[in-house]
Amino acid sequence: MTEAASAPRKDDTYTPDERKKVHRSETKTKTPIEAKRQGPTLEDIKSDDRVKVYIRSANQQTGAIGYTEHGERHANTSADGARFILRALGHEPRRCEVAAIAAYLHDVGNAITRDRHGQTGALLAHDILVDLGFATEEIATIMGAIANHEEAEGGLPVSAVSAAVIIADKSDVHRSRVRNPKTTSFDIHDRVNYAATASEIKVSRKEKLITLELTIDAEVAPLMEYFEIFLSRMILSRRAAEFLHCRFALVINNTRLL
Ligand SMILES: [Fe+2]
Ligand SMILES: [Fe+2]
Repeated sequence: MTEAASAPRKDDTYTPDERKKVHRSETKTKTPIEAKRQGPTLEDIKSDDRVKVYIRSANQQTGAIGYTEHGERHANTSADGARFILRALGHEPRRCEVAAIAAYLHDVGNAITRDRHGQTGALLAHDILVDLGFATEEIATIMGAIANHEEAEGGLPVSAVSAAVIIADKSDVHRSRVRNPKTTSFDIHDRVNYAATASEIKVSRKEKLITLELTIDAEVAPLMEYFEIFLSRMILSRRAAEFLHCRFALVINNTRLL
């Protein structure tokens, strides 16, 4: 009798595949609260004094050179959007939290210069993330997402977190972002943002579809103006949706345009 034949077999049903299934179901049982405990949260980022000052400074400096609002309102809207997109697509809670953090920080580089603010923002965030105790892998993901959010700087979706940040950022088109008080001296960016009275992201996990729904007052800005400045942003949003294995749709005033 050989040694193998004489050894008692503990489990005749064992296969490597089944082991994998057990492992997967274990990871799914984590609650959002447990997942948040795996690392620092968006609330930790928001309460960091450096983050507060840099975002305030980024907003002030973009205002000084004629850009729309880039402050805490835009940071919060982007964070909510990025978290919502990944959560709606069934990503694990910790990744949703990391996406919200990356989105909250994505424009912080404007505290240095507008030009290449994605790359400078990633490096600016690095020390803060280290000090707050983020895992190195998460820091790399967050820096990649911040550095790749801007279409004018060659940004591309490089991770699920990065894709969610791109869509959340580009979809924040709204009247409240316009700072110029004189409608008579609006430029095209002011006009298009001022014309947008509602913007909403919708995600269908079943249809694998991410939709940006906008309501635009065509008397303030013709739709052509929207496309003139937003087409490149919508193309990047579509690539980001594709990274998340979804199609991207743009609906303006109840009409599907993309
Ligand atoms: Fe930006
Ligand atoms: Fe932004």
